Amino acid sequence: MLDYESFLSTLARRTERSVIRELLKLTRPGSVISFAGGLPDPATFPIAELQEVTREVLSTGGRTALQYATTEGDPVLREELVRWMAKDGINVGRDDVLITTGSQQALDIVGRVLLDPGDVIVVELPTYLGGLQAFRTYGVEMIGVPQDDDGINVQALHSVLTRLRQEGRRPKFLYAVPDFQNPSGITWSRARRERLLALASEFDTLVIEDNPYREMRFLGSAPPPITALDPEGRTLYLSTFSKTLAPGLRVGWMAGPQFLISRCVTAKQAMDLCGPALTQAMVAVLLARGTLLERLPTVVGLYRHKRDVMLDALAREMPEGVSWTRPEGGLFLWVRLPEGVDAGAMLKVALEEEAVAYVPGQPFHADGSGQNTLRLNFSYPSEAEIKDGIARLGRIVRRSVPAPVHTVRRRGTTVSD
Ligand SMILES: Cc1ncc(COP(=O)(O)O)c(C=O)c1O
Repeated sequence: MLDYESFLSTLARRTERSVIRELLKLTRPGSVISFAGGLPDPATFPIAELQEVTREVLSTGGRTALQYATTEGDPVLREELVRWMAKDGINVGRDDVLITTGSQQALDIVGRVLLDPGDVIVVELPTYLGGLQAFRTYGVEMIGVPQDDDGINVQALHSVLTRLRQEGRRPKFLYAVPDFQNPSGITWSRARRERLLALASEFDTLVIEDNPYREMRFLGSAPPPITALDPEGRTLYLSTFSKTLAPGLRVGWMAGPQFLISRCVTAKQAMDLCGPALTQAMVAVLLARGTLLERLPTVVGLYRHKRDVMLDALAREMPEGVSWTRPEGGLFLWVRLPEGVDAGAMLKVALEEEAVAYVPGQPFHADGSGQNTLRLNFSYPSEAEIKDGIARLGRIVRRSVPAPVHTVRRRGTTVSD
């Protein structure tokens, strides 16, 4: 056999498979109760509306929707997005918006446009695995800053930025998932958002705000997006219709300063020429008709209910010494096991003995910490699966937690209802 490895680029060698995607392969429906993926509930997909819109788009504009499109994306969708973001206080023009093939492509574009090997960036501990995967590919050093209930720890961030400055290094950007973060479910307070921007300004760096869950708020009032608070144009805003409509559409977007967006357009051109014009046109129609806004309360209500079912089940099934977040929105909650319990090793047992899956927390940590943490998804499993699956997980955790446990039980770290 040829030594194929020797032909690989440094970039290909650096790129690692996502732990979650590998895990998902193990969880064929019916065999395992899975809290592992970040999948929306398929019951929320607007199938009838999309059928109707597909017919309409193809009959009135099929020759355009099936043609190559501009790299920037469907102009009507970009106009709609300008209005969509304006309701959150993000004021940009159509030319400041680039449609991407999901938000994941936007993360890769950010990497291509901003990162060189050896650069440093700052991320949350924990943070979105797909972000780490995209940025790691570009050979950067990622420095993790811990979170608490209100978002990133700004004192720790200040110390990191000060140390880097003393070393003569400037991070290219701070990567933030401020609303119902994947994986922790934590939402940043307004004060943290403002402080982040103040630090970005003081240390002259950029902010990448990755915000796919913003619309999925169950309760409480929403602080403005970081981008809406940014007077200096230091922020690139990323979002997607994967959670609000359907991930199979692969329609996401990025918005920000013209100079950077224009560079991102050039990078995307080399990647795929243009995104799928058909699904972009379909989403544009759904936005223009107000279908998405009409549907959101039902989707959000369903996820809120599932979150509540999971919180109740955790309270019933978990032993002392285990704590978890109470997210105000989104798709995930985050569980902390007592120190010393390895959620990675426990997963093997959970799959083999109880046929239940979750994602161990360590891969979400740029510094390799978080062994005793795990992420649970509540949007995809049914209510019955949540109850059954958490009971199974509870049995596994009880077996893994050394007894007796003297740790004080902490219930929930984010603001709760
Ligand atoms: C924080 C975050 N960013 C980006 C993405 C990618 O989303 P998309 O399906 O739009 O590529 C996800 C998906 O789960 C996510 O959680």
